[in-house]
Amino acid sequence: MDEPAAPTPLAELRTPEGAALLAAATELAERDPARAAVALRAHTADPALASAALNQATLRLAARAKFGADARLMFFTRDGLEQATRPAVAARRAARLARTASRVADLCCGIGTEAIALARAGLSVVAVDADAATAAIARMNAEALGLAGLIEVRHEDALVTDLTGCDAVFADPARRDARGRRVFDPEGYGPPLSALVARAGEVPCAVIKVGPGIPHEAIPSKAEAGLVEAEWVSIDGDVVEAALWLGTAARVPFRATVMRDGEVRELTGEGEPAPVGPPGRYLYEPDGAVLRTYLVSELARDLDARLADATIGYLHADELRPTPFARAYRVGEPLAFNVKALRRELRERGVGRLTVKKRGADIDPDALRRQLKPEGPNAATLIVTRVDGKRVAFLGEPAGDV
Ligand SMILES: C[S@@+](CC[C@H](N)C(=O)[O-])C[C@H]1O[C@@H](n2cnc3c(N)ncnc32)[C@H](O)[C@@H]1O
Repeated sequence: MDEPAAPTPLAELRTPEGAALLAAATELAERDPARAAVALRAHTADPALASAALNQATLRLAARAKFGADARLMFFTRDGLEQATRPAVAARRAARLARTASRVADLCCGIGTEAIALARAGLSVVAVDADAATAAIARMNAEALGLAGLIEVRHEDALVTDLTGCDAVFADPARRDARGRRVFDPEGYGPPLSALVARAGEVPCAVIKVGPGIPHEAIPSKAEAGLVEAEWVSIDGDVVEAALWLGTAARVPFRATVMRDGEVRELTGEGEPAPVGPPGRYLYEPDGAVLRTYLVSELARDLDARLADATIGYLHADELRPTPFARAYRVGEPLAFNVKALRRELRERGVGRLTVKKRGADIDPDALRRQLKPEGPNAATLIVTRVDGKRVAFLGEPAGDV
C-alpha cells in the first residue's frame, strides 16, 4: 500500500506562501477570469505553481455550488469534482450508516466527499482510491477540514484493500469509461458491481452507489447479496442517484428519498403493482425517485388514487391530497389526441402560455406546442398520455405543490 503524497505543486499550495498565492488566484479568478493568469504573474515567478494555483482557484469557485463553505478549503480535480456525491446526500447516508457501523471502508473514495461525511457523522474511515493523485487529494481534504484523525487514506485497489477492523463498506465505483462516457452496465463499472458485492459480503453491512438508470433486473438478488434495499434519491425533482443497501443496513426492498427545498421525505415499500381505474379530477405526476422504485402503488394508497393505464406512472384521483411525492394537476375529462381539435380547445380557452407534458406518448412536446400555436392571456398544462391503452390529452393546471 502506498501512502498518498500530494503532487508537488499542490503540496506547495499548502505552505503559507502557497496558500497566499491560492488566495490571490481565487480573488483574481473571481474578479476577471480572462486576465487572472497574466495578473497572477505579479505574485510568483514559478509558472507551474501559478498554473496549479489558478487551476485550484477555478475549481474551488466551480465547487462552491456543490460544497458551499467547504469549497474554499478543499482541493479538487475536474473529474473528482464532477463525480463527487452531493454533500447533502452523503451526509444523510452517513447519518444512517452511523446507526449500524463504527468503522467504514470508503472504497473508491475519489476526492473524499463521502469519507468526509462519514467522519463528520462520527465514524472512523478507511478511504481507498486506485488513482494516486486522487487519493492524495482525499488526504489533503481530510487534513484541510480537520478530519485527518478519523480518515486513513490509502492509495490502493478497492478489491484487495484489507478490511480488517471495518464493520461496513461504502463503495462508489467509477461509472465512466476512459473517454468519459457514462457506463450503464453495472458490470462495466470500475470495479464491477459483482466484485463490490463480493467485498460487501466480508462485513455486516454495505452501501454501493449505482447509476440512477440501473434496471431492476441488475439489482443483486437475495441469493447473491443477502438482504438488499434499493434506494433512489431525488433533489428538487431530479433523480440524482441510486444506492444499494446490503446486509444489516437494508430495511425495506425499496426506498424513494425525496429532498426538496432542504426537506427530506421517504417513501418505502415493496413496489407492488398499483390499482387501475378511470381518470378523475386530479392527475398526479410522481417524483422520479418514486417512479424508479416502483413505489407508485404505495403512493396510490396514500392518495386514494389509481393508474388509468397499467403501464403509465400517472396517478388519477377524485380529490386532492397533500403529498411531497408528486406534483398534482387539476384536469378536465380526457380529450381525444387530435391536434386540430386541441388547437380549437386552446383558442376557446384563450391559452397563450402552454406547458406540454407527456408520458407513454411518442410525441415531441416542443414540436406539439408549436403546432398548437397557443395564443391568449391564460396559462394551461397539456398532458399527453394513455388511458386504457388509448392516447389521450388532459388539459388542466397545477393544483399547487401540495
Ligand atoms: C465516482 S468516483 C468516487 C467519488 C467519491 N465517492 C466522491 O463522492 O467524491 C470513483 C472513484 O473510483 C476510483 N476507482 C476506480 N477503480 C478503482 C479500484 N479498483 N479501486 C479503488 N478505486 C477505484 C476512481 O479513481 C475514482 O476516483
